[in-house]
Amino acid sequence: MKIDHIVQSQQFTVPMIWNLFERTKEMEKIVRRGGTKDYERFIMASLFYAPSTRTRFSFESAMYRLGGKVISTEQARIFSSEIQGERLEDTIRIIGNYCDLIVLRHHEEGGAIRASSVSRVPIINAGDGSGGQHPTQALLDLYTIYNELGTLEGLKVALIGALDKGRTARSLAYLLSKFERTKLYFIAPPEVQIKEDILEHLEEKNVHYELLDSADKIISEVDVVYQTRIDAERLIDKKIDLGIYNITKDFLKKMKKNSIIMHPLPRSVEISRDVDSDPRAAYFRQAENGLFVRMALITMVLDFE
Ligand code: CP
Repeated sequence: MKIDHIVQSQQFTVPMIWNLFERTKEMEKIVRRGGTKDYERFIMASLFYAPSTRTRFSFESAMYRLGGKVISTEQARIFSSEIQGERLEDTIRIIGNYCDLIVLRHHEEGGAIRASSVSRVPIINAGDGSGGQHPTQALLDLYTIYNELGTLEGLKVALIGALDKGRTARSLAYLLSKFERTKLYFIAPPEVQIKEDILEHLEEKNVHYELLDSADKIISEVDVVYQTRIDAERLIDKKIDLGIYNITKDFLKKMKKNSIIMHPLPRSVEISRDVDSDPRAAYFRQAENGLFVRMALITMVLDFE
């Protein structure tokens, strides 16, 4: 199953997702064996115009574990020709001559789609703009949910944070909408609630959703709490108590025993450190899965006989 570019999560069908998960299981075994040399003739360019810890390191590690090579620039906004006014499209055309795959984090929404429209090599969107998408994060999130709970059907998922610009939550909502009987709860201060484009998509797909400004009503019934940040400086209403959105030991007491807490990370204050030791805290396992899922995604865009 060859994929040309990975730019948004809507492009993944359910059969593609199962194919990805099968490959991901294989990648876990390969990593345990110390890696493979199968992709040694391939070069991946990692082109990050915005900061990253997990996405960049996991993609680069994934390529090395597959036997491939990595070329990159740190802080592409400064250490690439953008500083001299070069357009993204030109940069992509040039870098495509030197590699077989480009992993791109761009500071503008739509950057990955623009790049894919001119690229001769596959583009993988490693997060675009704020309010764009982060499809590979959402795929590793979905894999984590499946691994932890054993199903993707009939799940109740609470997504918490500044959801209007939350590219991970946006991409995950698209993926979850593909599975039967999903119920989504978007929990955010009203001024940073999830945007209309996602809600229209859920309505088209007949997916149950609710917009809430607190988790109180659903905390005891959800299977997944997907926590993200809320930056106080983004809120116009300074009287909103952001503490009510934080996951604490008290929040845990109200959650189901067989539920999980996820977070794309990095976190600030929105999950207290004393939650980390609870078996339901899945966010570090989620970050580890990023390596395996991204290895599998690289094999899907570099598919060869
Ligand atoms: N989750 C995520 O995208 O993390 P980074 O910004 O560290 O890549």
